[in-house]
Amino acid sequence: MNNYCWFKTKLNANNIIDPNWKFETKLHYVIKYDIVPVTDEFIKYLKQFDLVYANNMMFYRAPNSHPFGSNTLTSHVDLDHKNNLCSPALNYVIGGENSVMNWFKMPDEKYQVKFTPANTAYCSFNNNELEKIDQAELGQDLTLVRVDIPHNVLIGKEARLCISIRFKPICYRRWEDVVNFFNERDLLIAR
Ligand SMILES: [Fe+2]
Repeated sequence: MNNYCWFKTKLNANNIIDPNWKFETKLHYVIKYDIVPVTDEFIKYLKQFDLVYANNMMFYRAPNSHPFGSNTLTSHVDLDHKNNLCSPALNYVIGGENSVMNWFKMPDEKYQVKFTPANTAYCSFNNNELEKIDQAELGQDLTLVRVDIPHNVLIGKEARLCISIRFKPICYRRWEDVVNFFNERDLLIAR
């Protein structure tokens, strides 16, 4: 059993987003639910692999920024609207050079549920109480990422826009099961 928390996929990352879509902001941190126009073509393409598109989350971060001010010492776990853990997501990142996504072991302590500005639930942890187990610099590859254990992204000198694609069924699916599902379809690049 390894601690891998991400895998680049062999999925084609062309035509994911409507080319007319532009995102501009003066804010340092933006999180939005389902505002990115994912193309019908891409949704159809995913279907070939039994991947049923559900929705997307968009995360924007300005250079050197962190969602909670200067505090770069926290991580979070994604929760759904019923406060259940979220299934793995397929992430596509524009920009974000030198930004690093980190993953940590899930602690035993009970967690408190909080809400992002997009009204999505999460729980946060102090990194000094966590053990780091994996990291990645994501880019314009579709990467399968684990979001049901603490994770964070430290932003480098370039703005980072992450489109995070979520699948049906919405109910929680374990990381191991989703990795197997992708592997059965020969979609993951071995690490
Ligand atoms: Fe997250």
